[in-house]
Amino acid sequence: MTAKPDLLVTSPMMPLILEGVTAAFTVHRLDLAADKDALLAQLAPTCRFVVTGGHAHVDGAFMDKLPRLEIIANFGVGYDTVDANAAAARSIVVTNTPNVLTEDVADLALGLLLATVRELPQSDRFLREGRWLKGQYPLTRASLQGRTMGIVGLGRIGKAIARRSEAFGVPVSYYGRRQQEDVSYPYFDDLVALARAVDILMVVIPGGPATRNLIDARVLEALGPNGILINVARGTVVDEDALVEALASGKILSAGLDVFAEEPKVPQALIDMPHIVLLPHVGSATIHTRAAMGQLVVDNVVAWRDGKAPLTPVAETPSPR
Ligand code: 8YV
Repeated sequence: MTAKPDLLVTSPMMPLILEGVTAAFTVHRLDLAADKDALLAQLAPTCRFVVTGGHAHVDGAFMDKLPRLEIIANFGVGYDTVDANAAAARSIVVTNTPNVLTEDVADLALGLLLATVRELPQSDRFLREGRWLKGQYPLTRASLQGRTMGIVGLGRIGKAIARRSEAFGVPVSYYGRRQQEDVSYPYFDDLVALARAVDILMVVIPGGPATRNLIDARVLEALGPNGILINVARGTVVDEDALVEALASGKILSAGLDVFAEEPKVPQALIDMPHIVLLPHVGSATIHTRAAMGQLVVDNVVAWRDGKAPLTPVAETPSPR
């Protein structure tokens, strides 16, 4: 029997992934290694497979420590922690976990919007604190009715959010790198102009250097005093200092945030604002969807081991196999 090939896991992973890869590979855990450099040096001559996710960063320098590396399988549709261009330059395949999480993340985005507009967490707290016995919860300043939504990044998840938004009677416009032919929503190539035209900004665009602080003070000011910002993408897409300032000064009305620039740390200034809604990055966090994402990670590395094409390579990966 030939030995199972080496596979390196960079960060804590769900049991389904660990069990799945252990059946097919000799698994090494960088996250548990006392001496990470020693483990990388040990694996340098043999390791062709990496599984990554969470907050571990896989950059060109890391890839150079594993010169036999062929595939990096990322747990998550967003792969801003993997330098996919550096991987492409080294002919390393990168895979992510698209599609299987689209509906759950879109549901969460709408739920977060409704929770923010109608102050659902605040109403819940009001009841639990016994305050209903003394009077009614104040009427909310905001309503979903009459609003329009600007989607920043109309990819698969953005489109699923757009469909839901239309069902709620909220018309959609969008901003992205280019106009898309398969939708008829109004397109803006200028983010400030989009923010000015709508009163909900829904951020679904991928993270990474190209979108860092895309939602800045100018965009928030354009969104205006009735404006609501929802972010289910990456915290880095929003300039958090500018957001705190815009919320504190009333430049925008409210925000619903599922993601933050330095998770799991959340700026105290945001925590101290009771009128906004903050979630601990739960967009895809259902047992069903996380299992499907985990299985896709396993299936990608097993396919590659078997000489087949990866199931879900990212856009930067030049047509592998
Ligand atoms: C992941 C996410 O679950 O898919 C993504 O990009 O943000 C989440 O769905 C997360 O990356 C896991 O840590």
